[in-house]
Amino acid sequence: MPQDTNALRLDGQGKPLWLALELTYRCPLKCSWCSNPLDFDDYAERELSTEEWCRVMREARALGALQIGFTGGEPLQRRDLEQLVAYAEQIGLYTNLITSGVGLSDERLLGLKQAGLRQIQLSMQATDAAMTDELVGAKAHQLKLDAARRIKEHGLPMVLNMPVGRQNIGQVGAMIAYAAELGAEYLELANLQYYNWALINRDELMPTLAALREAETVVQQWRQKLGKRMAIYYVIPDYYEGRPKACMNGWGAIHLTIAPDGVAMPCQESRSVPGLDFVSVRERPLDWIWNESPLFRKYRGLDWLPEPCRSCDEREKDFGGCRCQAFLLTGDASNTDPACDRSPHHHLMQAAVHSATKPLRFRKPLVKRVAGVMSTAFMED
Ligand code: SF4
Ligand code: FES
Repeated sequence: MPQDTNALRLDGQGKPLWLALELTYRCPLKCSWCSNPLDFDDYAERELSTEEWCRVMREARALGALQIGFTGGEPLQRRDLEQLVAYAEQIGLYTNLITSGVGLSDERLLGLKQAGLRQIQLSMQATDAAMTDELVGAKAHQLKLDAARRIKEHGLPMVLNMPVGRQNIGQVGAMIAYAAELGAEYLELANLQYYNWALINRDELMPTLAALREAETVVQQWRQKLGKRMAIYYVIPDYYEGRPKACMNGWGAIHLTIAPDGVAMPCQESRSVPGLDFVSVRERPLDWIWNESPLFRKYRGLDWLPEPCRSCDEREKDFGGCRCQAFLLTGDASNTDPACDRSPHHHLMQAAVHSATKPLRFRKPLVKRVAGVMSTAFMED
């Protein structure tokens, strides 16, 4: 029997345990797999102020938030980052900075450390400058390397995050050695998720199953070699697995993301789903948004599940998969995620896996307004 309509206690005890603040979508890099919206350059004028971000953190903490990720875009683009970290620490949130490392000068790192920052997640795309710079569309490799060394010199725990796609999957072994040498405590080999920029570049970015399996073998060998010295996270993407990921641990279960303009979201991609009723923290208290808003209640719990999920014995494992992926591939967010081989739309996943290559489209301002009509630059490339 389905249980507990709109239940808040599915796995987060009703609390937004993990709070992600997308401080800004501004960023010096142009990654072709960026998870930011395609119209990211429209948000710069609408970013929340320092005081508004502090209020969001206070309200989230009152709701039970424990961990906070300052992310973007590039959060270092905000000059008030140190102030925000200090406030988060003061009210008892465990602070993480998710950064490309570009702009992480010695002075800023010291400021962040003094503010109480607990952990830094630094993205690295490759072990050599030629590949990194090509992938991010900027001369960034050396800056990232400097940032990694600086983080360790200052004694902060470091998670290295390598977004893995077809172009760099052959470097997984080299990256593990590199991360260990740099002193990372944790390496996340993050197989790309296909939303927003990554989705429009999916045909070019997606690795073959053979390459993913080969990388898995390399990871196993390194895990044995390194033991507890560095934890390595690697999961084959759901495009190949026949089962979806338990996205966000369930919609509105433990994750709360706030966009630069204050819109609260159950996940950072949810704005790609049309027809949802988004509310900004400028309009309503976070308590109402989390507990009462139609958006957060829409896919919370298990009662909303369609068949085949409704009668599936795995429904409490994956909650029917990812709502955004279901929309992006089938046109309806309430469908079973097509990553599941029990979904009637699973053939869409299989087709994606077999589709042809196309040139990469780098992240850049896309929106061109002509007499009030929006068109996108990538269509003109
Ligand atoms: Fe998960 Fe639904 Fe597939 Fe069952 S049918 S495994 S609940 S996505
Ligand atoms: Fe939005 Fe999975 S990314 S629910």
